[in-house]
Amino acid sequence: MDRDLGKSLNWFLLLEINQVQLYKAQAHQVADTHLREALNRFAQIEQEHVEKIATLLRQMGGDVGWLTAACESSWGKQFARLGMEGIMSAVDKIGEDKLLSIAILGEQRAIADYKKLIAKTPEPWVLEVLWANLIDEELHSGWMKNYLTGKQNISP
Ligand SMILES: [Fe+2]
Ligand SMILES: [Fe+2]
Repeated sequence: MDRDLGKSLNWFLLLEINQVQLYKAQAHQVADTHLREALNRFAQIEQEHVEKIATLLRQMGGDVGWLTAACESSWGKQFARLGMEGIMSAVDKIGEDKLLSIAILGEQRAIADYKKLIAKTPEPWVLEVLWANLIDEELHSGWMKNYLTGKQNISP
């Protein structure tokens, strides 16, 4: 396995898992139905990113079994629960808008990192996944920015 690419993909795997947790937790907390549905959809898309990256790592001969084991272990579940609780209390303390701004920063970090990896990746089968994920992150970021400017605040 290409060690540098493997290392980068492991980084994205953790980042994407984090994004799934973040959006799931936020979706539980927000009052607006339109925003909640969007955050739930983002969580599903981030889960697809997790699976696509895990597949790439497996195709490269990497072992992602450690990750499943870590997520399913008692400390893994505890860690996820604490993360969720932290996000939930943050929504109460700093409010929905600030939390969305933080989520946008997270997306921008992911966008910058995907672009960097795309620039140094020659394999078309890896590039296909990286480009697809990058575009999804740009869509998430754009949707949230649009929501914050009030353009999509039209819940049925
Ligand atoms: Fe993602
Ligand atoms: Fe995203």
